[in-house]
Amino acid sequence: MSIVGALLRPVSPALKDAQDKVTVVGVGAVGMACAFSILAEILRQQGISSEVILVDMMGDKVKGEVMDLQHGSMFLKNPKIDGSSDFSVTAGSKICVVTAGVRQKEGESRLDLVQRNTDVLKSIIPNLVKHSPQTILIIVSNPCDILTYVAWKLSGLPQHKVFGSGTNLDSSRFRFLMSQKLGVSASSTHGFIIGEHGDSSVPVWSSVNVAGVYLKDLNPDMGLDSDKENWKQVHKDVVAAAYDIIKLKGYTSWGIGLSVASIVQTILRNSQNVHCLSVCIKGLHDLDFEVFLSLPAVLGSEGITNIVVQKLSPSERCSLKFSAAMMSEVQAGIQM
Ligand code: NAI
Ligand code: 2OP
Repeated sequence: MSIVGALLRPVSPALKDAQDKVTVVGVGAVGMACAFSILAEILRQQGISSEVILVDMMGDKVKGEVMDLQHGSMFLKNPKIDGSSDFSVTAGSKICVVTAGVRQKEGESRLDLVQRNTDVLKSIIPNLVKHSPQTILIIVSNPCDILTYVAWKLSGLPQHKVFGSGTNLDSSRFRFLMSQKLGVSASSTHGFIIGEHGDSSVPVWSSVNVAGVYLKDLNPDMGLDSDKENWKQVHKDVVAAAYDIIKLKGYTSWGIGLSVASIVQTILRNSQNVHCLSVCIKGLHDLDFEVFLSLPAVLGSEGITNIVVQKLSPSERCSLKFSAAMMSEVQAGIQM
């Protein structure tokens, strides 16, 4: 008799797959930061995914990353960790996070990546949906908003199940930078960046508040050129953030990893938290473009349940329209 046979008396078969299976496609800097942050959530919270799957076209890299993470399993409450370059390993995923594709080199914008990463998505999205027809797709690869549109079209999934990580990250950068200026923590400094995850993002100055005190009521010039306190610089720094980090370390990873883990946590816990996510904005804020841009969205276990209709100022509305028109123009030029 084998050791297992002598040691264990079978009672009932173990479930093969966890119900909360999360796949991360792309094991580059961003994919691994996402995977690691999701695993760290497993450690922090009971009830969040206990199965994380990695996929990448580079077979050896994915195998090495899987082994490396598996060796830390006992410190992470024993999640199941697996991976492959074969998409069948993703079968039954509740959530698929797409981080595969090229990243910006110094001097490139996110939009410069559009056709190359559209081509990457063509080889990924149909495979994910084939193996997990009920999945929720979170698009992280850039340009995030346009690739979310591409993924929605390629997947055939309903709109509430396909969204981009969008300005959840930009909003976090905004709140951190505001918090530094205010001397109040980032989680107590409330504010939103909406629109493009990129150069034309829109800071919603009219809603920035601490404990319900609207800062725009205290300084009506906040965010304007005429503002003597120059709060506008905070948004400029948010837009420059990725370029600055890429110049310094070559890529961004930890911020987006933590941002994605917070989105995944909301879905798996069905907690209806609000995140700024890239969603189809047609019909919202009087916009008629079929493009994806970030707006505050309520998120649950089946995807997006509601979009929060913010009371935007005329200039915020105008900036959002500018972003939408630009997305529409770029979108018209891509070959799907
Ligand atoms: P990376 O070069 O480190 O990793 C990309 C990975 O994608 C590689 O491992 C590569 O083998 C894999 N890949 C490429 N084509 C594939 C395919 N067809 N099938 C499977 N795997 C494939 O790049 P990094 O730094 O991880 O960035 C990934 C993407 O995330 C970039 O587009 C980047 O711009 C974007 N990004 C988005 C952020 C956001 O807030 N939305 C934040 C940071 C980066
Ligand atoms: C970021 O904002 C480059 O989109 C990436 O970090």
